[in-house]
Amino acid sequence: MARIFSGIQPSGELHIGNYLGAVQNWVRLQTEHDCLFSIVDLHAITQPYDPGALASLTLDMAVSLFAAGLDPGKCIVFVQSHVAEHTELNWLLTTLAPLGELERQTQFKDKAQRQESVTMGLLAYPVLQAADVLLYKASLVPVGEDQVQHLELMREIARRWNARYGHDFFPEPQPLLTRTKRVLGLDGKAKMSKSLGNTIGLFESPEAIWEKLRPAATDPARKTRKDPGTPEICNIFTLHQGFSAPDTVEEVAQKCRTAGWGCLDCKRVLADNMIKTLAPIRERAAALKRDPAGVLDRLRDCANRARSLAQRTIADVRGKMGLLKDV
Ligand code: TRP
Repeated sequence: MARIFSGIQPSGELHIGNYLGAVQNWVRLQTEHDCLFSIVDLHAITQPYDPGALASLTLDMAVSLFAAGLDPGKCIVFVQSHVAEHTELNWLLTTLAPLGELERQTQFKDKAQRQESVTMGLLAYPVLQAADVLLYKASLVPVGEDQVQHLELMREIARRWNARYGHDFFPEPQPLLTRTKRVLGLDGKAKMSKSLGNTIGLFESPEAIWEKLRPAATDPARKTRKDPGTPEICNIFTLHQGFSAPDTVEEVAQKCRTAGWGCLDCKRVLADNMIKTLAPIRERAAALKRDPAGVLDRLRDCANRARSLAQRTIADVRGKMGLLKDV
């Protein structure tokens, strides 16, 4: 059984963009593979952040992941900083990480441009990411297109380590690209993201969902009810593909192309299906929020399981890198 690792930043409660883009797929993967999913708080602190808010954003993300259907009986969901071995392997790997490649990462360049002071942590972000995955010798990494370059660097680090310290010790992890198209925000312009305020949260009420969907952007070619549209360029259609059954998706596409339905008709069908999908998630979230100690128990148990896997790798890595054995 292939081992899978993926990470998500502690951005608080999930929105439907995160859900369709990543987490829905993780929920599927947990039944077929040996999976670890980490809330990567140590990555989050590589950019300006509020230390007073980080812990509750981390807990909210845990609630979201469990509510969305990740089950500690089927996979490991843990907080990165709870397993100190991530930082240890990170250090050991920095000694092999190619500086030029790190400086050439597009994510690094983008983030660095927006900051007055560029830190080692920001530069080493992909090294920590490599440590996350290699620590568990995971071979598959479900991610979006934007992480492909980090994965290439991760494989380079694994190859260098293997060449120097032990052939075939680390597998070279491959990305498992998520199929869903990029979900745009309700404005239909930028990617759905909390900081832009163009999201629908995973726990929103049926009323709130409809209030947000009603005015959401559609294909601009449909100026009046009679103008036909192109479903492939409409964000509402993308959402249908995430929340509606295949035959509905087909019907929606046809009614859009022929102007059989107006955009509002199309959105009503979407709202119904979205509300149906999200209802059990919202219920689970409410129960989890009433029991934060229970959420922490799950995280602790998962961190213990992750740590025992991590410790095995670290012991071997220390030995192969020639560090004196502790007595
Ligand atoms: N960099 C990833 C992102 O922003 C998050 C992440 C951290 C990750 N560690 C990881 C993803 C390990 C996959 C594997 O989405």
